[in-house]
Amino acid sequence: MTYPRIVGHRGAAALAPENTLAGFRKAAEAGAEMVELDAKLSADGIVICHHDNVLGRTSTGEGPVAEQSFAALRALDAGSWFGPDFAGERIPTLAEALELIASLGMGVNVEIKPCPGRERETAAATVKIVRDHWKSAAPFQFSSFKPAALEVALAEAPDLPRGYLTDDFREGWLEDAARLKSVSVNGNFRRYTKERIDAVHAAGMKALAYTVNEPADAARLLTDGMDILVTDCPDKLLKL
Ligand code: G3P
Ligand code: MG
Repeated sequence: MTYPRIVGHRGAAALAPENTLAGFRKAAEAGAEMVELDAKLSADGIVICHHDNVLGRTSTGEGPVAEQSFAALRALDAGSWFGPDFAGERIPTLAEALELIASLGMGVNVEIKPCPGRERETAAATVKIVRDHWKSAAPFQFSSFKPAALEVALAEAPDLPRGYLTDDFREGWLEDAARLKSVSVNGNFRRYTKERIDAVHAAGMKALAYTVNEPADAARLLTDGMDILVTDCPDKLLKL
């Protein structure tokens, strides 16, 4: 599968509230061909788009996401924190997000982002939603920092590509990525050296860096051979 060089992070997190339908629309307006989002479970097992394990930063709610029903999550305002233009924006389900992203002609990187202890059930529920709601031929990838989540994705949807997320490139990262039959290693750009990019390529995978917002960082990474940049500001990086 061919991926675009620039991927909008959580939609386009510098331009609109992250992980919202408004954010995915903004990414498309900015020219992004693909977006990343974070998938996790409500208490009653609905897959939603949300990054943090605890409410508060990106909505009017508080407390652990894992303890909230979908109905309670849906009642929250997930846009006002970003700006008045986005007041009333709701936390979307993954199904709604996938259908909108497909209709906008973009690809998607579905990061499986389980609340603690819910790795396998979050992955299984996420795979099921993707199976039922992603019919597009646009680029697709599952990704996760949790090997257990990628194991479930590999077992249940071996035909859908996986990206191995790592923040710190800890001992065994390349072997682990290969074991999980990943198509890419998705690493923190601050620790993604040229040596690591070369090792990823030698193992037959693509190199993806997150979260790259400064043109100077993007230029360094591309010179070093980075294949894909995940960014909060696709508008800015697409101009390079
Ligand atoms: O998938 C890339 C990136 O989103 C991983 O970090 O914390 O923004 O989900 P985070
Ligand atoms: Mg993410």
